[in-house]
Amino acid sequence: MQVLTTIDSCRDARSRLGRLALVPTMGALHAGHLSLIELAHQHAETVAVSIFVNPTQFGPKEDFKKYPRPIESDLRLCEQAGVDMVFQPAVEQMYPAEPADLMIDLPSLSTVLEGKHRPGHFRGVCQVVAKLFNIIQPQAACFGEKDYQQLRILSAMTEAMNFPIRIIPGPTLRDPDGLAMSSRNRYLSPEERTKALSISRGLFAARDQFASGIDQTNRLLTTIQHALLEQHLAIDYVAAVDAKTLKPVERVASPTLLAVAARVGSTRLIDNVILSPQ
Ligand code: PAJ
Repeated sequence: MQVLTTIDSCRDARSRLGRLALVPTMGALHAGHLSLIELAHQHAETVAVSIFVNPTQFGPKEDFKKYPRPIESDLRLCEQAGVDMVFQPAVEQMYPAEPADLMIDLPSLSTVLEGKHRPGHFRGVCQVVAKLFNIIQPQAACFGEKDYQQLRILSAMTEAMNFPIRIIPGPTLRDPDGLAMSSRNRYLSPEERTKALSISRGLFAARDQFASGIDQTNRLLTTIQHALLEQHLAIDYVAAVDAKTLKPVERVASPTLLAVAARVGSTRLIDNVILSPQ
């Protein structure tokens, strides 16, 4: 496995590899990331992982500084997962002076849900992923449905920018008790973790309700809200939106995203399920 820290050495290493699938990450790898690496192996002969905690997607009061960076164990996990190339640049490599005064934005998708609560977040995500696409030039890139809005925005960006890259979604990996895996779960105390389970519990209850024939989203959302409030979570949003446009819907008539963002103590968690009518 090659580990490259500069853009030039990365381009050079990449030029000697054939068809390649990329898994962009911020490190602190867990089984969710590893499932994307496995998925990448199914779509190309070689697999690259980028590990970069991207400052431009963090708000001024967010956890950029304290974001976990267990680089030794991340590299070990990549090696074990059969990754061919890791790109792990320093911030100065990606943003030599001030971050370039270039904005890639898809406002109709990026100003709702997460975008409303984290202004500028998706601009930072688009900026770094477009740079990674240009540096690594993969044929495919894998993103998790855990961050559904990010996946949707990056698919739309890829199409709008004509990047010749296939975007491949991977399902959300969960701990056995239902909690969606996240690098931020390591901030949770045992009591907070128990409270956090109300997020997946609420989403699953709403999914069951939909399966039993209830398609009015206000009823599904009430179910989720009850689960969260029972455990005293601070809700940022609970929403039902069209899975493509991310616009609110009153009935589940087309694929619909039920999305939650809530805070447990000082940790902010997101999760979702997708409902598809028959
Ligand atoms: P990060 O949070 O490290 O996530 C990297 C990838 O792993 C994303 O595509 C994310 O959706 C996926 N992922 C996270 N948890 C998952 C889970 N439980 N199951 C399946 N996939 C999961 O998302 C980012 O980094 C950054 O925004 C990035 C795209 C790298 C740009 O900086």
